[in-house]
Amino acid sequence: MSTDVVRFVTDCRVCGGERWQKVISFGRVPLANGFLEEADSYPHEEAYPLEVVSCRDCRLLSLTAVVDPQVLYRTYSYVTSDSETMRQHMRTVVRLCGHHTGRRPGGLVVELGSNTGDQLLAFQETGARVLGIDPARNLAAIAEERGVPTLAEYFGSALAATVADEHGKASLILGRHVFAHIDDLADVLAGVRALLAPDGLFTIEVPYAVDMVERLEFDTIYHEHLSYFLISTLDTLFARHGLRTVDVERLAVHGGSVLVSAGFADGPHPTGERVRELIDHERAAGYLSDGVYQEFATRVRHTCAELTRLVRDLVADGKRVAGYGASAKGTTLLNVCGLGRDELEFCTDTTPQKQGKVTPGTHIPVVAPQAVRRPPDLYLLLAWNYAEEILRREAAFLDAGGGFVLPVPEPTVRTGAVTAR
Ligand code: TMP
Ligand code: ZN
Repeated sequence: MSTDVVRFVTDCRVCGGERWQKVISFGRVPLANGFLEEADSYPHEEAYPLEVVSCRDCRLLSLTAVVDPQVLYRTYSYVTSDSETMRQHMRTVVRLCGHHTGRRPGGLVVELGSNTGDQLLAFQETGARVLGIDPARNLAAIAEERGVPTLAEYFGSALAATVADEHGKASLILGRHVFAHIDDLADVLAGVRALLAPDGLFTIEVPYAVDMVERLEFDTIYHEHLSYFLISTLDTLFARHGLRTVDVERLAVHGGSVLVSAGFADGPHPTGERVRELIDHERAAGYLSDGVYQEFATRVRHTCAELTRLVRDLVADGKRVAGYGASAKGTTLLNVCGLGRDELEFCTDTTPQKQGKVTPGTHIPVVAPQAVRRPPDLYLLLAWNYAEEILRREAAFLDAGGGFVLPVPEPTVRTGAVTAR
């Protein structure tokens, strides 16, 4: 590992504190989206420390090692999953954001990390003016082709001023599953202040740390996810940057996420009841002290050991096992649990950019679902956040005697018997 591509965190990116509790260390793990060409350059494959700590002052959960974004996103293969679950969710986001922005026709909606533009297309349908911002040029080009104006840039205070000049102030700035990827939150929030209309809202969707801890979703920990947020922590962050938490919605996507809105501290939007309720709950349930996180680490180690044992027992029993969905979290799961080619024959994945490659660290071939000639006896569901949709779609596989291993919170096997619905 060349040390110049990793920055080790000293002070907290939310509160500046330096009192860290060690939560869990997974050793060195390769990058979650670092899929490799087959037989390509395995000897040169890099792995980086993957370790989580908790700030004793604001309770931010953070990785200790921040990999240089140039390295992390150089070969970025993540494309928003084209799934019914996600399409439905994006419509929900439009509806929820509409409550506050009053569905103002012609209002400007700016999305940070807009990927291929799906979410903004849903906003366009409501008559909003939209602008996407995403540093991945290949993705921005796809969005443009679909009619979503997109800047292939990193968002920060400098870009925000230019955008405000050219397009006017935004009634909504949205960031879905990007906020946890950002190291310099202060600069992004300065950008938000420069671009947001006085009565506008900054709305982010992030995985909820409480859900991750309760459901043992340890595989959502990977180098792209620098931060894991409580509502209390976000509230502290917003307050330090002239904003006020306005509302929060809990959502099922990606194993449990929150849609959190903030407005100017001196703006018209008050803090809603749900914000206070969740902050109170976090305190009452112990999320502001060490114990919860110690227990999380213990339970994660137990679940990992159980999963490895279960899969190895199945293989020893003569069962053929494969992975379903070569997801980013699958990289953490397989590497941390030590499951590789000895256990999984292949992984199916619908993303063309991943097909024909091998999984990071574990080097399992990734194939298109339609290329599978002999289905395995069981699929390990690495894309468990789409479990419902996938189990419904794979009814025929289940009816034919196939099964799924669901890894978290407790490894379980689902077989045809449960397809009746
Ligand atoms: P995501 O949770 O980050 O969207 O990643 C899910 C991965 O799983 C992504 O690589 C696409 C893949 N996938 C499938 O292979 N089949 C499916 O049915 C779904 C929903 C996702
Ligand atoms: Zn802190």
